[in-house]
Amino acid sequence: MGKKYAAITGVSGYVPEDVLTNKDLEKMVETNDEWIVSRTGIKQRHILKEPGKATSDMCLEAAKQLLEKTNTRPEEIELVIVGTVTADFVFPDTANILASKLGAVNAYGFDVNAACSGFLFSLITASKFIEAGTHKKILVCGADKMSSILNYEDRTTCILFGDGAGAVLLEPSDKPGITDAILKGDGSGAEYLHMKAGGSLNPATIETVQNKEHAVYQEGRVVFKYAVKGMADTIAQVMERNGLSNDDIDWLIPHQANKRIIYSVADQLDFPHEKVLVNIENYGNTTAATIPLVLRDFEDKFKKGDKIMLTAFGGGFTWGSVLIEWSY
Ligand code: UT7
Repeated sequence: MGKKYAAITGVSGYVPEDVLTNKDLEKMVETNDEWIVSRTGIKQRHILKEPGKATSDMCLEAAKQLLEKTNTRPEEIELVIVGTVTADFVFPDTANILASKLGAVNAYGFDVNAACSGFLFSLITASKFIEAGTHKKILVCGADKMSSILNYEDRTTCILFGDGAGAVLLEPSDKPGITDAILKGDGSGAEYLHMKAGGSLNPATIETVQNKEHAVYQEGRVVFKYAVKGMADTIAQVMERNGLSNDDIDWLIPHQANKRIIYSVADQLDFPHEKVLVNIENYGNTTAATIPLVLRDFEDKFKKGDKIMLTAFGGGFTWGSVLIEWSY
């Protein structure tokens, strides 16, 4: 019996209708459109405003489209993995809530908390269940309702993030799909990007709420440097051990945190900008959703067999690069 590979056989995404533009943010904090665009590339982001809606609801919209597109019945899904830092609850996980809402009655699930690398960590986890031969249809989502953990008085973070969800279907294939991956973590980076309160270290109190400690805290400059190095290094390592040069890679899809980070990574590798896919201007940083949203937006460009490098860096620190071959 030949080796089983895991392949992405469909992709979809969802962003909420409400849009928060840079002009809107100018009325909320001391900032301006020119600063945001030149420093980050972001022009607008989508915000989930509807009361009673959470991360699982954005995943649900993406998942419904995905099942329709791939002609899959919800009962066929065996496992649901959701990469997110904005789970509906601290517990239970979002994946099982999503499975129930979707009618995936034969599935079980769990969440993966790897911040902006959440989609890549989820994808690689899922690929192992397929490669082991125990699962045939896995729903992998990357989704975050970042607006639920932002301090809209902090101009250094609130301008960066948006809400959204992306989803892929992972199935067995005889040909390489998820071809190779290097994933990394370094918990000593936690101090530069984290949420101060709400976990078991600092449970919620009146003070933590008053001090706005239930929001993203980031030391942007430090994270910027680690992000460029982490993504560039792991891309280079994956390319080297697969004997690939820039010419062999059809598309580079980086996590969308900052346009300057994205093109710095490309420049470190002398990678041509035309093959770097970017949609940050429309959504901002949607954390675990950025990569599947790029896959969705640029799906029409991909040809079967295209070699695509996915790369991400985020809180944890977590980072890594994944080489895939497009399978449809
Ligand atoms: O996705 C998870 C991983 N996260 C990332 O990869 C994000 C990494 N970091 C970044 O993308 C960038 O560091 C930021 C976009 C967060 C900030 O850009 P920067 O070029 O590193 O700016 P900075 O923090 O060095 O700030 C430069 C100046 C400061 O003013 P002074 O001290 O030079 O007078 C800031 O106070 O810009 C000021 N500033 C702003 N000005 C207008 C900071 N935020 C704003 C703002 N509007 N929103």
